[in-house]
Amino acid sequence: MNKIILKNQENTASEIIIENNLSQKIQDIFEDKKYFLITNTKLAKLYPEILYKFNKKRIIVIKDGEKYKNFKTINYILNRLLEEKIERKDCIVALGGGVVGDLAGYCASIILRGIELIQIPTTLLAMCDSSIGGKTGYNTSYGKNLVGTFYTAKKVIIDPMFLNTLDEQNYKCGLGEILKYAFIEKSCKNKKFYNLVDFLTINQTQDVKNEMPYIINCCASLKANVVSLDKKESNLRKILNFGHTYAHAFETYLNYKKISHGQAVSYGIKCAAKLSFNLNKINENYYNKIISLIDKFSLTDKKIKFKKEKIVELMTHDKKVQNGKINLLLPVAPLEVELFDNIDLPLLEASLP
Ligand SMILES: NC(=O)c1ccc[n+]([C@@H]2O[C@H](COP(=O)([O-])OP(=O)(O)OC[C@H]3O[C@@H](n4cnc5c(N)ncnc54)[C@H](O)[C@@H]3O)[C@@H](O)[C@H]2O)c1
Repeated sequence: MNKIILKNQENTASEIIIENNLSQKIQDIFEDKKYFLITNTKLAKLYPEILYKFNKKRIIVIKDGEKYKNFKTINYILNRLLEEKIERKDCIVALGGGVVGDLAGYCASIILRGIELIQIPTTLLAMCDSSIGGKTGYNTSYGKNLVGTFYTAKKVIIDPMFLNTLDEQNYKCGLGEILKYAFIEKSCKNKKFYNLVDFLTINQTQDVKNEMPYIINCCASLKANVVSLDKKESNLRKILNFGHTYAHAFETYLNYKKISHGQAVSYGIKCAAKLSFNLNKINENYYNKIISLIDKFSLTDKKIKFKKEKIVELMTHDKKVQNGKINLLLPVAPLEVELFDNIDLPLLEASLP
């Protein structure tokens, strides 16, 4: 078992536990209190043995998919919790990927002005990233994640066993975020240095898959450290957006189809590397290392074409644009990134695929 303690600014610590088959022993972790489970239809079907451990009335199953990450679902969850007379001393358990985690986290943060939350992430992305750090929220017609709170889970129980049922698209999605952590590792200011880039470079793709518990542990530790230093994204936490300004434009351009979020981040990292290389901020060696590691995991697809002007337009609609220049996180040295607020748009366009 691996334990990571994430210290919050309020001085309350949350515990991140990583262990195979831990969710099967869930009752050992539970205290003598009422637990409300929030999950989705897909996981309810895949893991009935986990649902079986909860009181039937306290299981809330929502529809599966990003399109249900909205206020209607929030309203449904809140009503169900109130119907079952949830109390301040009770606890909400989120079993699912980032969508369930964000929705359940948001509900836990507002119901009765906040009740205890346990996250059990079931996708690779949620294990490495979204279940840690306390961002919660839902989407509105104005955009994704525009309404939300910062609300840290008391426990995050990471059980890599869930990855056995995850499909290839969602595995690649998580890998994209893992590569992001690898390329920002030194900027995360963690005491322990894992050198994830070398680990991912040296190992065969199948061995990487087999070593996922270790890799999740590295990413979870890096994220926990960044978040403990900057919970509300005032400064350091911004590095977690590496590749994301590009990624949001690629995802919007493709209407959130064809590639997963993590793959879009991989496209973004490649572009940021090209821009950085064009600006002489990284050398050819490191540039090639970034590109070949992303290609090794087939995270980008040459057959997918983008209209460069449209991507620039989408990126300049982003709030990071000022006076025809754009803010971007760029690699500046191996495993280090820095925020630049003066990138000219022609340079941006030249970095696109
Ligand atoms: N809070 C944060 O810090 C943070 C960070 C990154 C992303 N996010 C959010 O996370 C969401 C994306 O999360 P996601 O990629 O986990 O997507 P998701 O939650 O939609 O899960 C993807 C799919 O995998 C299924 N699934 C989940 N676990 C499974 C398992 N073990 N086996 C088989 N299928 C399984 C889900 O039902 C779903 O169909 C987005 O809404 C994004 O905004 C939040």
